Amino acid sequence: MKPEKMLCVLLQDQQPDRISIAEVPIRSLKQGEVLVKMKAASLNHRDQWCRLAMYPNMKYPSILGSDGCGEVIEVFDDKDKSWIGKEVIFNPNVNWGDNPNYQSLNYTILGMPTDGTLAEYLIIPAHRLHEKPAHLTAFEAAALPLAALTAWRAVFTKGEISKGKNVLITGIGGGVAQFALLFSVAVGANVFVTSGSEDKIQRAVELGAKMGVNYKEKGWEKILQKQVFMGFDAIIDGTGGENFGTLAKMLGFGANLVVYGGTAGTPSPIHLPRLFFSQSNIKGTTMGTDEEFEQMLDFVNKHSIVPIIDSVRPLREAISAFDRMHRAEQFGKLVISMINK
Ligand SMILES: NC(=O)c1ccc[n+]([C@@H]2O[C@H](COP(=O)([O-])OP(=O)(O)OC[C@H]3O[C@@H](n4cnc5c(N)ncnc54)[C@H](OP(=O)(O)O)[C@@H]3O)[C@@H](O)[C@H]2O)c1
Repeated sequence: MKPEKMLCVLLQDQQPDRISIAEVPIRSLKQGEVLVKMKAASLNHRDQWCRLAMYPNMKYPSILGSDGCGEVIEVFDDKDKSWIGKEVIFNPNVNWGDNPNYQSLNYTILGMPTDGTLAEYLIIPAHRLHEKPAHLTAFEAAALPLAALTAWRAVFTKGEISKGKNVLITGIGGGVAQFALLFSVAVGANVFVTSGSEDKIQRAVELGAKMGVNYKEKGWEKILQKQVFMGFDAIIDGTGGENFGTLAKMLGFGANLVVYGGTAGTPSPIHLPRLFFSQSNIKGTTMGTDEEFEQMLDFVNKHSIVPIIDSVRPLREAISAFDRMHRAEQFGKLVISMINK
């Protein structure tokens, strides 16, 4: 039986901080919906952008969180009864639409504007459910959906990464970057990374990267250029900022610079002759289609991919996970446990 109220990470238009651990009522199910008792959720940078009111189309109040894992305990429609008792994860896409090249105009992501996973219970349409990969714990599965989907499209659909390709992944401490690393290594690409932390570079090497450089140190690009003389076949970047122009210079002939985020802010200028003479491409990417979500899950199951978890903390302490992300201290996903509140 569901209780009348639950704890959640609630986004409100209030100062000094827009997020708090709050108690809210649990509404009744509508047609097509199921009720999930959450076991775990994980943070993405969009949750922190929402906290800073730096995400488009803010809606208050909203429950944050796009990723999670839990058990279905109630369904509205009889046809969905087979989900009851199953451990599930969620495709965070809302209304991608029919065009695989880009999302529809009314596309949104689970967890603002629709109420998300950082809560004890989640109400979600049954068609967003997928069974938890059997080789993953609930904490690991909760770390998967949004970042892995984004990395999947960036690496394979846009980056065209395959065995033997030379790939650079920037800011390897990040959630998306780490799935890009795991996926690229799994297909046999030669992976190089950047990070602001020597420790994170070392951990990336332990996970299969060839080597890495610290983007905070002068001359980092020269070290990489010596490794991959003809330039990278693909660069996967979620940061932009002052290093962006340098990344564009490191592309090989016909290569792809895939951009999924801009954590470090306004990009530096690009040397256009270098870009057009190398016939290379800069491609934007966002999330992925529902079909790519299924492909990503098949790949994760086939290669027994295990998400990297930075830390797990109880729901009542979730705000400290946002702070850790803000300071870019994490290596891997910040997981919130609803089992141990
Ligand atoms: N387009 C989409 O669909 C999509 C999906 C997910 C995320 N995003 C965006 O992508 C970005 C990353 O998201 P996330 O959830 O993976 O974030 P995250 O886990 O918070 O990772 C951010 C990482 O960026 C790295 N970084 C910071 N400044 C850097 C710099 N100057 N140069 C290189 N790396 C730098 C840091 O890596 P080190 O710690 O290794 O230094 C940090 O750990 C965010 O802006 C997010 O909004 C977009």
